[in-house]
Amino acid sequence: MYRAGFAGIIFFREIEQEEMTQANTIKLIGIGQLRPGMYVQDVNCSWMDHPFATNHFMVKSVDRINEIKALGVHELYIDTARGYDVEGVPARSADDLRHEVDARMVEIARQIQTEPQRADLRLEVERARVLHTEANRIVRGLIQDVRLGKQVELEQIEPVVENIIDSVFRNQDALLPLARLKDHDNYTFQHSVSVSALLVSFGRGLKLERPIIKEIAIGGLLHDVGKAKVPDDILNKPAKLTEAEFAKMKSHVVQSILILQHTPGISRIALDVAAQHHERYDGTGYPNQLKGEQISLYGRMGAIVDVYDAITSDRCYHKGMAPTAALGRLLEWSKYHFDPELVRAYVKCVGIYPSGSLVRLKSGRLGVVLEQHVDKMMQPRVRVMFHAEHKRYLQPEDIDLAWPGCIDSISGHEEYEEWNIDAKRWLG
Ligand SMILES: [Fe+2]
Repeated sequence: MYRAGFAGIIFFREIEQEEMTQANTIKLIGIGQLRPGMYVQDVNCSWMDHPFATNHFMVKSVDRINEIKALGVHELYIDTARGYDVEGVPARSADDLRHEVDARMVEIARQIQTEPQRADLRLEVERARVLHTEANRIVRGLIQDVRLGKQVELEQIEPVVENIIDSVFRNQDALLPLARLKDHDNYTFQHSVSVSALLVSFGRGLKLERPIIKEIAIGGLLHDVGKAKVPDDILNKPAKLTEAEFAKMKSHVVQSILILQHTPGISRIALDVAAQHHERYDGTGYPNQLKGEQISLYGRMGAIVDVYDAITSDRCYHKGMAPTAALGRLLEWSKYHFDPELVRAYVKCVGIYPSGSLVRLKSGRLGVVLEQHVDKMMQPRVRVMFHAEHKRYLQPEDIDLAWPGCIDSISGHEEYEEWNIDAKRWLG
């Protein structure tokens, strides 16, 4: 059931602003069932892992099928309303698929955890804003230096990494939503900062020791440093990459390795995060096609966080998807591409409805998740500001769904785009 997945969400909500339909036309099929004349609704892997301009297209040739196979795709989604059908495969509607994601999350949320001490959110948000700006400035400078052929100096980034760890440890609901917001022009730097902060949260959730978390966070900050050696027109190309361009894009990992191997003081852990963040659990990743436990814990963590941050971020040619939907995709892809246990652990770290998510309450109100209770994941603190049924803004009100007297509760996740709500206004 669950495998019948989340492709509908991407198709209907993320990439194309087409009319919602209740029609059951989306099917999950094996790659061996794909034929020319079928309409791929979702390639079923992160857009960073394929060269196509969009996730959905008509398959016109066997060559295209072979290209998809070569990416390590085992199953993918077709839309039978737009192309040939496959008999005997169940079909789903977009709304069914979204409800399945939320139901899956509820199952994970049942595993109770202990609520850690946390700093006052408002106070931490102020500190996180300053830190976020500073961290981006430092990573930007670092990548510019690498472009000029200079060496990476760890002393430059260590203080900012310590600050990221402190902030996430005090209250992760301050820095993580901020780090999700990206400008098109600064994506690479901002993505690095976000991956670093998310890795700190992940490491903390896995109860790793602080010195290890520090090395993982350094790896996160530097994992894409090799992109300094990839031309911008390839990094930001809004169309299908040619074979040569895709190879060049993928070469950023080897470039990162080369740069970091020449970085005095770099640790094995940090190097693993950078070197293995595009390896995939089933051996279909790059650059070394490592499989399963051949990929270190830090590389497996890096892969999960890298994809999560990429698919939840807006690019000039991709709309970021809702965090809950992205977690659902990660769970789905963990069948082949990620360590399934680690993905479940990651969901628990960032929460079922990560802070900054838009949720719909049973009362019909929409609200942004402000702060989560680790021990009551389905009942975060929410700022309600819109009424879905009346389609109008409300006077913003903060409500704690965990408060015993609160009678409202979450009915599911929503997309800012769909309601024309400016996420930046509520997250920034
Ligand atoms: Fe990368």
